[in-house]
Amino acid sequence: METYYSKAAEAARKADSCYAPAGQIHYYDLVLKEASGSILKDVDEKEYIDLLASASATNVGHSHPTVVNAMYEQMQKMIHYTPAYFYSDVAIELMEKLLEVTPGDFEKRVLFGNSGSDANDGIMKFARAYTGRQVIVSFNGAYHGSTYGSMTLSACSLNMRRKMQPLVPNVYHLPFPNMYHSYPNESESELSDRYLSYFAEALKTYLPVDELAAVIIEPIQGDGGFIKPPKEYIQRLYHFCQENGIVFAVDEVNQGLGRTGKMWGIDHFDIAPDIMSIGKSLASGMPLSAIVGRKEIMESLDPPAHLFTTAGNPVCCAASLATLKVIEEEQLVEKSRVQGEYVRVRLEEMKECFDFIGDVRIYGLNGGIEIVESKMTKKADGDAASKIITHCYRNGVLMITVAGNVLRFQPPLVITESELENALAVLEDAFTQLASGNIELDTERKIGW
Ligand SMILES: Cc1ncc(COP(=O)(O)O)c(C=O)c1O
Repeated sequence: METYYSKAAEAARKADSCYAPAGQIHYYDLVLKEASGSILKDVDEKEYIDLLASASATNVGHSHPTVVNAMYEQMQKMIHYTPAYFYSDVAIELMEKLLEVTPGDFEKRVLFGNSGSDANDGIMKFARAYTGRQVIVSFNGAYHGSTYGSMTLSACSLNMRRKMQPLVPNVYHLPFPNMYHSYPNESESELSDRYLSYFAEALKTYLPVDELAAVIIEPIQGDGGFIKPPKEYIQRLYHFCQENGIVFAVDEVNQGLGRTGKMWGIDHFDIAPDIMSIGKSLASGMPLSAIVGRKEIMESLDPPAHLFTTAGNPVCCAASLATLKVIEEEQLVEKSRVQGEYVRVRLEEMKECFDFIGDVRIYGLNGGIEIVESKMTKKADGDAASKIITHCYRNGVLMITVAGNVLRFQPPLVITESELENALAVLEDAFTQLASGNIELDTERKIGW
């Protein structure tokens, strides 16, 4: 191993001596130099099938020619002018496009940022300004980003709080409904009742409903372990917010833009949210985020309440318009749905063969495979999950874990059938090798979150 990965290992060690640890969750000594479609190449010229898509930031694949050309053309015209003072033509085109492709046939406004994190901060600001209330409700297991506001909304790692408190006041977290941990024989409807009763209990004991500004939710939780709540739960939550003047906000940063087999994660629940955040794949990984929301909410703040010098950068906007075009032209939403269903069936079959596959949660070309000690105990097995992804990595398939023991499956949506087959074959082999006790980790260092 050591000689095979020598260049990458050496480069990674050099990087470790330069880069502050807070900025990277360690998995492997991988140093990339090229990427195209779903294939990555490292500094040792070794290729990998990418099952991570740069954390769901390259839904249309790496360096898609349409995106590259659009960026190149824009770079030659104008690299940047700040929307903090003046619009660019390409930014206007993108604003119009985003208003068109986001849910809700009410009047909306859009605002650009640089990251998913700042978009979620913006949602907090708008919700408070619009309602004149302070309290924001989020969920256990959520990942909304790592600026102070979005980090406060998050609840999936102690390292996102440790040594940095106090965070933003008046943010509370509710348990997130998870069918995998339902009570025996509990139906989706009963589970929805139960989880809504936790909210009701909070409203009775410490959360005055008339002080609630917003509920913010990932329609399908990503880093929390790819958990899709029952439709009934989300719909009832939404209606409760509507009835009580609470802004219903969704975070589409991870699950948006075709990832789940629908254009937006919230489309699975037939709801148009009051406000939403978009990022990651919006500009194929170029730094661009957007908040889209009801006009009256988005007009509740005055400048410079939420502006950034490099937000809505023209090259990023050109990349974004090209990305949206590729999603449409290559019918990636439908491709994600169809291929995702195929993957789900294949993984369900594998689940039957291996007792450590506790749950398969695949929605589009997207989802998680929960690795447990046994189906009976459902006890998380992070070590086994690390061994599986390490075997995949050694055999040219790049995958990581979330929530400690959940394999993260998020390939670029342009992945070819043969790449997908190869990746599934390697994954299945990893399961087989794990079952035979054949995978050893070659690092003392912690792998993953
Ligand atoms: C659901 C969700 N929201 C927000 C973010 C934060 O986005 P960024 O890292 O671009 O700030 C992420 C990133 O992983 C995410 O998954």
